[in-house]
Amino acid sequence: MALILGIETSCDETGAAVFDTAAQKILSNTLFSQIQYHEKYGGVVPEIASRSQLERIDIIVTEALEQAGVTVNDIDTIAVTNTPGLAGSLLVGICFAKGLAWAANKKIIGINHLEGHVFSTFLKADNSVEQSIPFPHLTITASGGHTALYLVEGFGDYVQLCNTLDDAAGEAFDKISHLLNLGYPGGPVIEKLAREANFVDFFEYPRTKNKNSELMFSFSGLKTAILYNLVKQGAYDLQTGPIKEKITPELQRQVASSLLVCVADIFEKNIKIALQQYPGLQAVTFGGGVACNKYITQRLTTFCQRRKLSFFSPPPKFCTDNGGMIAFVGGYKYEQGLFSDLHLDVHNR
Ligand code: KG4
Ligand code: ZN
Repeated sequence: MALILGIETSCDETGAAVFDTAAQKILSNTLFSQIQYHEKYGGVVPEIASRSQLERIDIIVTEALEQAGVTVNDIDTIAVTNTPGLAGSLLVGICFAKGLAWAANKKIIGINHLEGHVFSTFLKADNSVEQSIPFPHLTITASGGHTALYLVEGFGDYVQLCNTLDDAAGEAFDKISHLLNLGYPGGPVIEKLAREANFVDFFEYPRTKNKNSELMFSFSGLKTAILYNLVKQGAYDLQTGPIKEKITPELQRQVASSLLVCVADIFEKNIKIALQQYPGLQAVTFGGGVACNKYITQRLTTFCQRRKLSFFSPPPKFCTDNGGMIAFVGGYKYEQGLFSDLHLDVHNR
């Protein structure tokens, strides 16, 4: 039984949370998102991200402790993301966590951000933990930095079945949104426009071909196909970029809708292959920023219902980067006695 402080600073979100392992409940989950600083660049600028992390970390962690009604002395362990991510951003969280752990004489646990997304699928809207997800199950995670499938055998016991060969799905939404002059991040606005176009597949962009039923994600070809489709329609110039007057709201809606249907098809196809390769799985879970997308979660819900599988996806606050998932993973690592030492460092440097 323990109280875990979780700290997440791997990219452009500063997140902190307190998880109570006895109550199986997230007691607080505070967040600062830097979207406003990066939107004019169409993506995350690492230098800006790490500087902002430094400005916010103390405030966000203090708020998380206050909202949970505890002080740092009540905390049993500090869990902090130490890989993968932007080195400068990760360093801020790690150094803060190590300083706090040393000063308050607490243990520390380094957490893999991707493990956070995999197990975030257990977190519910009321901050409690879903108890009915069976093991083993299949998990798909998709966000701005990764798109992968995992076979999950237990808490902390999982293997990656495949990863994207190039861009992540969220990155594809962000880059195509930039091509369409729709700003950053792309996912939410692409979903809104696709809904207005009733999720019709206007352009039938190429789907990745899974040769010999191999598991595979790849999104850079899709981005190129959309770029050349826009060039063909006179809406994009390869030298100068988007031609504003040609990027009509109708074209934006049609591209967004076709893109979203294409990505959902690619997810479904890979899940289907994985379920064939690993018979006996009873559930599919979906985490990461792209899991905020209601169209994709609806498609996967229907897909699973048809196969009599259960499907779980967390609420948006636990899909995008957050301290809650790090505190939760910290909770079972604490119970498994998997502590790090104060030499903890950024792993992907
Ligand atoms: O998990 P996350 O906050 O950060 C990373 O670990 O990358 O995910 C951010 C990504 C962005 O690429 C964003 O466009 C995407 O999640 N995203 C969405 C939606 N909301 C956020 N993608 C599709 N539909 C959405 N509604
Ligand atoms: Zn993430």
